[in-house]
Amino acid sequence: MSEETLSNLLKEDRRFEPPAALAEHANVTAEAYDHAAKDREGFWAEQAQRLTWDTPFEQVLDWSNPPFAKWFVGGRINAAYNCVDRHVEEGRGDKVAIHFVGEPLEPETSGTRSITYAELKDLVSQAANALTDLGVGTGDRVAIYMPMIPEAVVAMLACARIGAPHTVVFGGFSSDALASRLEDCQAKVVVTADGGYRRGAPSALKPAVDEARTKTDVVEKVLVVRRTGQDLGADGWDDAVDVWWHDAVDAASTEHTPEAFDAEHPLYVMYTSGTTGKPKGILHTTGGYLTGAAYTHWAVFDLKADTDVYWCTADIGWVTGHSYIVYGPLANGVTQVLYEGTPDSPERGRWWKIIEEYGVTIFYTAPTAIRSFMKQGREIPDARDLSSLRVLGSVGEPINPEAYVWYREVIGGGNAPVVDTWWQTETGAIMISPLPGVTSGKPGSAMNPIPGVSADVVDENGQSVPDGSGGYLVVTDPWPSMLRTIWGDDERFKETYWSRFAKEGFYFAGDGAKKDEDGDLWVLGRVDDVMNVSGHRLSTTEIESALVSHPKVAEAAVVGAKDADTGQAVCAFVILRDDAGDGGDDIVAELRKHVRKEIGPIATPRQVMVVPELPKTRSGKIMRRLLRDVAENREVGDVTTLADSSVMDLISSGMSTGKDD
Ligand code: WT7
Repeated sequence: MSEETLSNLLKEDRRFEPPAALAEHANVTAEAYDHAAKDREGFWAEQAQRLTWDTPFEQVLDWSNPPFAKWFVGGRINAAYNCVDRHVEEGRGDKVAIHFVGEPLEPETSGTRSITYAELKDLVSQAANALTDLGVGTGDRVAIYMPMIPEAVVAMLACARIGAPHTVVFGGFSSDALASRLEDCQAKVVVTADGGYRRGAPSALKPAVDEARTKTDVVEKVLVVRRTGQDLGADGWDDAVDVWWHDAVDAASTEHTPEAFDAEHPLYVMYTSGTTGKPKGILHTTGGYLTGAAYTHWAVFDLKADTDVYWCTADIGWVTGHSYIVYGPLANGVTQVLYEGTPDSPERGRWWKIIEEYGVTIFYTAPTAIRSFMKQGREIPDARDLSSLRVLGSVGEPINPEAYVWYREVIGGGNAPVVDTWWQTETGAIMISPLPGVTSGKPGSAMNPIPGVSADVVDENGQSVPDGSGGYLVVTDPWPSMLRTIWGDDERFKETYWSRFAKEGFYFAGDGAKKDEDGDLWVLGRVDDVMNVSGHRLSTTEIESALVSHPKVAEAAVVGAKDADTGQAVCAFVILRDDAGDGGDDIVAELRKHVRKEIGPIATPRQVMVVPELPKTRSGKIMRRLLRDVAENREVGDVTTLADSSVMDLISSGMSTGKDD
């Protein structure tokens, strides 16, 4: 028993067939899997034809020096041209690219407006000219530290247009985090804003850039969008460095000829902190990345660019915003919504109002958001007409079966398939996902690698596990949007991702997963979070999903804490649904019994703590490491990546009042 790699415990029998009408006109049909498998490189060469190449590539893949891949060798391409100009040249200049929705409702401040592809082309060209005037040349790095406003997208595309790799730093990060990223990639210019609107108020950004500049001297110029008009303070402007966007960009010419770059020219660096250590600058290059983003956006969401209205709620500071707000959707020429603010401002139903108003057809969000809406209750979305929705996506964490079913029923009206998309900053694009017109969906399962991608679940020795077993998730063949290295650290790149298994060419993602009896994949969480209870390796996800399937529970986080008898014991932290009140006197016993019934005695939590909030990263992932500190009565560790640092105090104080049974 102690030999098992990861237990496979939770059973799920619900199935959802693709809607007949969607399946009939689906972009991708079941044949695609075989077609791609027969000639994988040929398949990717076909997908690369979604793009307009300046010079065609001569070789699809050069994998002669693994793990350093080169895709579309010899090809030359401009990413911004592909996302903007070609749509205008092909007669779609009047089509809306971005419906921008500002958080404030008041017309004077909201900034809400629609930008056509022709307008976007002018803006990107102007910004490209302005960056060039500021001294940015091909290969120079530009940092972008912005709210969710159209200028953020424009800045990214302007960088791509001139071949200057961007590094977008999430606007919620501190000046320290910004400074370390500026320093690591030696960013010459920062594009920022005075601030953005969040939770009904202007939230400053520029002061953090000023602060970061006291910690590193790499930055030569700061280009500042005036978004909120807030006071920058007495020392808040440095004429030698700071330049207003409305001066530099508005005055620049709308004429700009995009230069074609090598397919392997760096497009961007995205920092990801993972669970430990110094943030890793994940490098993505141009041709392969754009191919992966465009193809997956088209295939996984069944995108009909002429009629769909697409909305991804991610922040452009994360890879999801890069691949599924900027590069994939714009390369595909769709109309999309870009929303500045939070889901609950000025009212809890703000997102549903936006979907109704713009007739959003494809909606892509994260499980953490879905669970917070489950907590609030269905009355809020039920008050809006969401019938335009036809495909729903989920990304960022495993989606618990109960949250999946709620999403499908309440948001999708029972008609819209849910695609649970597994991928990472490192993979650049979706890797494992149902296809909405093909797959009979199972709630909680990311199902299968998409056509063109090969992945498997393996044991300690890199051997494929049989159906019905768990292990480590690996990608077994290179893919076009794969990371090329960690910026400035090839050794760490090899060590982190490619050395876990002796077998050359296995990319280890850091996640545990299982193959069910049908061979479908279930992602079970980070392997660092796996618990070992009496020699059974238990996944956090399965126990959390069992807890969330209880009608009183909205969210759950499970960790292993040292235990004298069993090695580790399961400790659960749960958030109750609003309509469950305090859960009643027997809530702890009730939940323990529920897990025992759903999974089995081995998974029964030793402790269940009812908490008001869970510690999450700024992208919404639960930080189980901090909960382990609480469960093992340790002082809580490094909280710098925590979205709300007061959360740990709330949880720790709840602990001392003793919710154990
Ligand atoms: C990690 C990557 C993918 C872009 C946003 C997050 C977890 C992501 C799923 C999913 C189960 C998922 C994994 C992965 N994850 N999507 N559908 N099911 N787990 O990017 O910050 O690089 O995080 O997020 O653990 O390794 P990221």
